[in-house]
Amino acid sequence: MTHFLALETSCDETAAAVFTDELTVLSSVVASQTDLHAKFGGVVPEIASRAHLRNLLPVIDEALVKAGVTLADIGCVAVHNTPGLVGALLIGVSAAKVLALGLSVPLIAVNHVQSHIYACRLAAGRDIFPCVGLVVSGGHTALFRCDGPLSMTLLGGTRDDAAGEAFDKVAAILGLGFPGGPAVEREAAGGDPKAYSLPRPFADDGRLEFSFSGLKTAVMYACHGQDVARAKPPEPGTKRANLAASFQAAAVDVLTIKCKQALRKTGLKRLAVGGGVSANKPLRASLEAMCAKERAELFIPPLALCTDNAAMAALAVEKWTRGEFAPADLDAEPNWI
Ligand code: KG4
Ligand code: ZN
Repeated sequence: MTHFLALETSCDETAAAVFTDELTVLSSVVASQTDLHAKFGGVVPEIASRAHLRNLLPVIDEALVKAGVTLADIGCVAVHNTPGLVGALLIGVSAAKVLALGLSVPLIAVNHVQSHIYACRLAAGRDIFPCVGLVVSGGHTALFRCDGPLSMTLLGGTRDDAAGEAFDKVAAILGLGFPGGPAVEREAAGGDPKAYSLPRPFADDGRLEFSFSGLKTAVMYACHGQDVARAKPPEPGTKRANLAASFQAAAVDVLTIKCKQALRKTGLKRLAVGGGVSANKPLRASLEAMCAKERAELFIPPLALCTDNAAMAALAVEKWTRGEFAPADLDAEPNWI
């Protein structure tokens, strides 16, 4: 049996995981930097890189201990090298290269977005391909035709903000703190989703594309009227909860409608969803209801595999089987597609 050590440092989570070539996850450790970025209302790339430097070796140690292995047992090193913040990615890539070289084991480069879909395969414990893949996170909102774990064709992405970014910005408008997704979801639970009539961009046309920037602006004007320049976040109460609920309902509607259109256009009967926003319970419920009506199978991993982690880099096993190893001068690639 081969043990893999995988690293994830693409944004603001420092993560390491140990898994086997049989896709058994022995440990998955995530050190969140949320507290460091909260006062800035978003991820500060320079702070993220420096925190990865501090956190990575302890996180690797913890992953090895929890898995009950030592570095000598590791037969392959994997790392997310694209897409993400370049400085943040470089910390993981540099560490992975040194580890692979020092241990004389193969190095495998893994795509973070493909890993988010592979998290569904990992959680399901069986093949999920071919499927429509929705990656919905702070950096990405895109639909793919996934013919296999390493074969993803873009069906459509976002014209502007990612869905998670919209959750984070709406949370900032409403004074709910960072990260915005879970805060908006909590606030929305006490609000009326029909209180404000907000746009559902591109919902009525067949384009498999998203746009969340206008929705976020609509929330801002619904909140403050024309006086946005001098406006302060609303006080806790009905208005704030209603705005959160109405925004969340619009975002969930658009994501669900586009997934339905993608299933119908491709003729596929499986939908795999990954990325931090897929932790959102109303989104999960809405996708479940839609898939039941479309007679499609829905795959969404448990919460710990939705947000950024290194276990989902078990996609490396697929590359390892094919002998797709990375060169010793592997670089970090901030952009993909
Ligand atoms: O996949 P992820 O951990 O990191 C990126 O690759 O971006 O996703 C983080 C994003 C953030 O924008 C966060 O606000 C959002 O996922 N998020 C949520 C929820 N939990 C995290 N959005 C909506 N509802 C949630 N419960
Ligand atoms: Zn992610």
